[in-house]
Amino acid sequence: MSDKANAPTATPAAGSSAGLRGVAAATSSMSDVLGDKGQLIYQGFDIHDLAAYSTFEETIFLLWNKRLPKQAELDELKRDLCAHYEIPAEVIALMKRIPREADPIDVLRTTISALEFYDPTSRNLSRDASVKTAVKLTAQFPTLVAAADRIRNGLEPVKPNPQFNIATNFLYMLKGEPPSEQDAKMFDVALILHADHELNASTFAARVVAGTLADMYGAVTAAIAALSGPLHGGANTAVMKTLLEIGDVANVDGFIKKALAEKRKIMGFGHAVYRTEDPRATHLRRFSQEMGERTGDMKWYEMSRKVEEVMMREKGLYPNVDFFSASTYYMMGIPLDLYTPIFAVSRISGWTGHILEQYADNKLIRPRAEYIGARDAKYIPIAER
Ligand code: COA
Repeated sequence: MSDKANAPTATPAAGSSAGLRGVAAATSSMSDVLGDKGQLIYQGFDIHDLAAYSTFEETIFLLWNKRLPKQAELDELKRDLCAHYEIPAEVIALMKRIPREADPIDVLRTTISALEFYDPTSRNLSRDASVKTAVKLTAQFPTLVAAADRIRNGLEPVKPNPQFNIATNFLYMLKGEPPSEQDAKMFDVALILHADHELNASTFAARVVAGTLADMYGAVTAAIAALSGPLHGGANTAVMKTLLEIGDVANVDGFIKKALAEKRKIMGFGHAVYRTEDPRATHLRRFSQEMGERTGDMKWYEMSRKVEEVMMREKGLYPNVDFFSASTYYMMGIPLDLYTPIFAVSRISGWTGHILEQYADNKLIRPRAEYIGARDAKYIPIAER
């Protein structure tokens, strides 16, 4: 290729892709979304196999190391995670000063950013040091989310129990008592299902920040902000609000048709990549049904199934990961505005895995914009305009 061909272009090529749809903006072995087949793989493993046989901790190892761990390696990772569950007292003190009505996802964003002050090795971006930071972040996310909920309710945070895995520990710290085995297992699988999803908006945000060689706390803070939007991780809370607004299975048909006629988006449906069933929804649908059976109240599951049926009939759209997680968490007694922070409790494993990849082979992410503004505008002094 000639030097001329390699030279940066002064003006980007016309025809930029709106929302970067279909553009490969990074190489990654973390996960692949096969939109037409409805398949999701993490480091080569089908999500259905991981949901059936793995644990969240094992999945974390897989995402960070590109392979499944041997027993001793998994034990070591678990020990490391448990050893870092606690958060600094200064961050708990900060949380107590945040307005009680603050959205928990925003509390998470602010406290993750603050955690960086108390980590003296945060700016060391070597692989070894970065894995240690990833361990700390992954271990501390659940503690922060549970503490945020307790503090806003005027309660003292529950100290994490290092005997518990991440899923059990989170539910324990949230409610103050250990969860049932079924709840803990279901939650563990939900964490596996949300762990990574290729170059979604929050992961891309994390990689853009990491690409400047900013530290992992900064990259993750940006990712949380991106996740909070209703078109991304904020959708699960919005789903439950919609179900509560609908109120009864008999109202579903009329409600959805009216909303669609008003060009309202129904949260929890559609996807930027999947053109068939989101494989994560398959498991979460089953969890929603199981929770209905266990609580003896099938209303939320049945209403969700009806919404699914009407959306397929009216728009040909499938439910995504957020649709059935909403009713599942609701029946587990989890407050609505914690659904998105819970998404983050899982996705931190994927974000940190992508950041490790980015640091390992970094190139500043700096795309171009297709300029559509005026050119050659003549400056007129303000008094003459
Ligand atoms: N409810 C109603 N209509 C929807 C819809 C939804 N949830 N999702 C997509 N559509 C419609 C759009 O209105 C659009 O119709 P049009 O062509 O008549 O204008 C068409 O389907 C394509 O939608 P678009 O938003 O361009 O698709 P996208 O691939 O850019 O967006 C999402 C994907 C996820 C942003 C979009 O489906 C959405 O907003 N879903 C709801 C939010 C959600 O659940 N987010 C979580 C994602 S995991």
